Amino acid sequence: KAAASVVEEHVSEAEREDEEYADVDWDNLGFSLVRTDYMFATRSCREGNFEQGYLSRYGNIELNPAAGILNYGQGLIEGMKACRREDGRVLLFRPELNAMRMKIGAERMCMHSPSVQHFIEGVKQTVLANRRWVPPPGKGSLYLRPLLFGSGASLGVAAAPEFTFLVFGSPVQNYFKEGTAALNLYVEEVIPRAYLGGTGGVKAISNYGPVLEAMRRAKSRGFSDVLYLDAETGKNIEEVSASNIFLVKENTIVTPATNGTILGGITRKSVIEISLDLGYKVEERSVAVEELKEAREVFCTGTATGVASVGSITFQNTRTEYKVGDAHVTQQLRSILVGIQTGSIQDTKDWVMEI
Ligand code: COI
Repeated sequence: KAAASVVEEHVSEAEREDEEYADVDWDNLGFSLVRTDYMFATRSCREGNFEQGYLSRYGNIELNPAAGILNYGQGLIEGMKACRREDGRVLLFRPELNAMRMKIGAERMCMHSPSVQHFIEGVKQTVLANRRWVPPPGKGSLYLRPLLFGSGASLGVAAAPEFTFLVFGSPVQNYFKEGTAALNLYVEEVIPRAYLGGTGGVKAISNYGPVLEAMRRAKSRGFSDVLYLDAETGKNIEEVSASNIFLVKENTIVTPATNGTILGGITRKSVIEISLDLGYKVEERSVAVEELKEAREVFCTGTATGVASVGSITFQNTRTEYKVGDAHVTQQLRSILVGIQTGSIQDTKDWVMEI
């Protein structure tokens, strides 16, 4: 069957599910997988071009046991959100940045990747086909997970001969079980997240498994998440498991510089741009763990995380607390970012894409 006809068939089928909203308890969404209707997938051929791709019913996929992703971890993830505006239109936020980040990550991981346009097309098709799963305004968003992975088989250590680009989604609200309450972070001293020259700066699937044990330990002690230190000196803060970190000091906003070990978050980049527009000074540099004591506010950013206030950070059994009620800068940045993403603040920067 030609890919195009599969796409048409499924999109029109999706349209036949004519209710505006799926049967979801929109007031109780967290960040766990909700099965939607469709996913998008396309495969590369040997020359590295990707087929047009098609939507299929959401479900399990078949993989050769020798697939590159299963044996050698050749894979990347992305994270994006589609938000429903008050007037019902659905918006993506800076999707071209996710597409470009996947391209850069693919080069690092020796993979072919879809073009920026093809990436966005796959994401758009996924959102349109799953439109009834985009939460009502103010109730969350449809989180999108584009994946690129080695689906071709290789027994020896080598790049996979074929790659799959797949997009699925799930309606979500807050990433942390704390909801919008401030996070309590634990500074991990033993397990670093990334190494100079490694893959910390790209969204490699293999960045996440190695920190699960540190997260499990911190969570079992009641912390929300882990703040990692640099692997080289163990003196500087880097990032949280799935978010970047910012400190607010008077009129200055400080965040660790992206030097290859820190993920260049799209929310991070957007928050920096908004901060500069508001007249704050922004410093991207090494941030010593001791500097956490000097901050007035601390917050985390990420697509899944949004802009989340940090209420305390524990390092070597010393807990530094932040007054979250007065977290004026964090709240200001959060409301501008969310306003642009949800269409309640005019997008003067061409950041949102209507689909
Ligand atoms: C995101 O913020 O979208 C992420 O990818 C973080 C995480 C859930 C892996």
